[in-house]
Amino acid sequence: MCRSLGPLDQLELEDTADPEAGPGQVVVDVHAAGVNYVDGLFVQGLYQIKPAPPFTPGSEVAGVVAEIGDGVTGFAAGDRVIAMTGLGGYATHVAVPALALLPLPDGLDFGPAAGLVQSYSTALFTLTRRATVRTGEWVLVLGAGGGVGLATIDVACALGARVIAAASTDDKLAAATAMGAEATIAYETEDLKTRARELSGGGVDVVVDPVGGAHSEPALRATRFGGRFCVVGFAAGSIPKVPLNQILLNNRTVVGVDWGAWTVRAPDENRELLGELLRMVEDGQLHPPAPTECPLEDAARVLADLLDRRVTGKVVLVP
Ligand SMILES: NC(=O)c1ccc[n+]([C@@H]2O[C@H](COP(=O)([O-])OP(=O)(O)OC[C@H]3O[C@@H](n4cnc5c(N)ncnc54)[C@H](OP(=O)(O)O)[C@@H]3O)[C@@H](O)[C@H]2O)c1
Repeated sequence: MCRSLGPLDQLELEDTADPEAGPGQVVVDVHAAGVNYVDGLFVQGLYQIKPAPPFTPGSEVAGVVAEIGDGVTGFAAGDRVIAMTGLGGYATHVAVPALALLPLPDGLDFGPAAGLVQSYSTALFTLTRRATVRTGEWVLVLGAGGGVGLATIDVACALGARVIAAASTDDKLAAATAMGAEATIAYETEDLKTRARELSGGGVDVVVDPVGGAHSEPALRATRFGGRFCVVGFAAGSIPKVPLNQILLNNRTVVGVDWGAWTVRAPDENRELLGELLRMVEDGQLHPPAPTECPLEDAARVLADLLDRRVTGKVVLVP
């Protein structure tokens, strides 16, 4: 429970009455709650949307339907589901509109499912709706060992692209390789622009950048003629300014990616994207990584680790 926006360590575990399913709602018995960068920003009051405390963070979960409200069709008690909660996911139970539910694909465990939607939808949206990636193209992924990074590698490989992964540690680069990256760059110690050009034989076609900061400009300069640079996030904390001549040169395109805003403006198209995502998981084209599982009590520590760059892959909280 977050009682006031501010430091992560003021999050507290509290016993409350279980929620009830109102009309059109479903109560989900949470088996795993995905931990996302945005959850930490919400708690600290650092996101563009500031929730009013008190609230429980947690924007996506996987679990089992425990109760159905009036008027809900298509789901029944006992169904395995993914729920896009927005807030409230770090809990044993959460009430959500039935519209926020997705059926959990057979064969996918609660852990990987709880961390699926935000990272993978962002990746799929980036590579298919914003920068259309074609078979055989080179995709350079920054922050490649993070949630969005690994998902982007997985989706890029499924689309037939070739991936160069850039990250800060051996652990993160190993995770990126295991996900399908063909080549890696340790961007804190190697020259990102030079290595990316060498590895791709002259320049990459697409850059996916969820990190920002000092690595963005060298990555942009590593794109070949007609290259696309996707601006996804600023996990490094600083928003880079790039010289516009670098966009003129080589006929490059800079592409903004705001999946969250798009889900609000284009809900039908987003349902289509989510359907596509679940089908790709069911067909075995995508491989959501097994997350590190931590108890609910560890929420503040896990968020601090995520925001301080100490996490490889995904973490979920298990009530
Ligand atoms: N645009 C959208 O629609 C959209 C959707 C989802 C997420 N996002 C944004 O994308 C970003 C990444 O999300 P994520 O879920 O992939 O997060 P994540 O799992 O924490 O990964 C972020 C990566 O950024 C790198 N990084 C570099 N400097 C950092 C710093 N000072 N602090 C923290 N990380 C740093 C880290 O990799 P290295 O240590 O290897 O550098 C880390 O693995 C966030 O800013 C998030 O808000 C945007």
